Amino acid sequence: MKNSIAICPGSFDPVTYGHLDIICRAANMFDKVIVVVASNKNKTNSFTPAERVGMIKKCIPDLDNVEVESYDGLLADFAAQKGAKAIIKGLRAMSDFEYEFQMALTNKKLNPNVETLFLTTSAQNMYLSSSMVKQIAAMGGDISSFVPEVIRQDILERIKTNK
Ligand code: PNS
Repeated sequence: MKNSIAICPGSFDPVTYGHLDIICRAANMFDKVIVVVASNKNKTNSFTPAERVGMIKKCIPDLDNVEVESYDGLLADFAAQKGAKAIIKGLRAMSDFEYEFQMALTNKKLNPNVETLFLTTSAQNMYLSSSMVKQIAAMGGDISSFVPEVIRQDILERIKTNK
């Protein structure tokens, strides 16, 4: 989709290979992608929005058409401010579907100019989640297949101090 902007929203607490796969695929489809660390009032986060933005940036130094920022309001308003045509979300198992469907319909109601597009998660990331990564790290497990090396230490340090 040429000359169009897409946004990739999420909590990204922390970003995982699953998120990065979706971001890279979105960057191949759109001229510009804005990754937005948005606030999910149902979640308690381990990292500040600025830390999460920093970790995402560290993971994608070579993606020239991707920007990363945080936003503390409604995603529909952020999309309108940026003139985004699409919200890109990754869909994992069926368990994601109802929640994602509800968000997509709500965002469409709030901003009829933006479409939500779902990308099927890659098979190896089917059951990967940020909370799983934090649990594994907290119990001394190996998180190397879930998050890039550049942010691994940041995660381990934070999990250690939160114990
Ligand atoms: O990674 P997550 O936690 O599943 O992402 C959910 C997120 C942050 C994209 C969602 O909670 C969101 O859009 N938050 C911004 C506030 C908002 O617009 N809420 C209404 C969405 S229907």
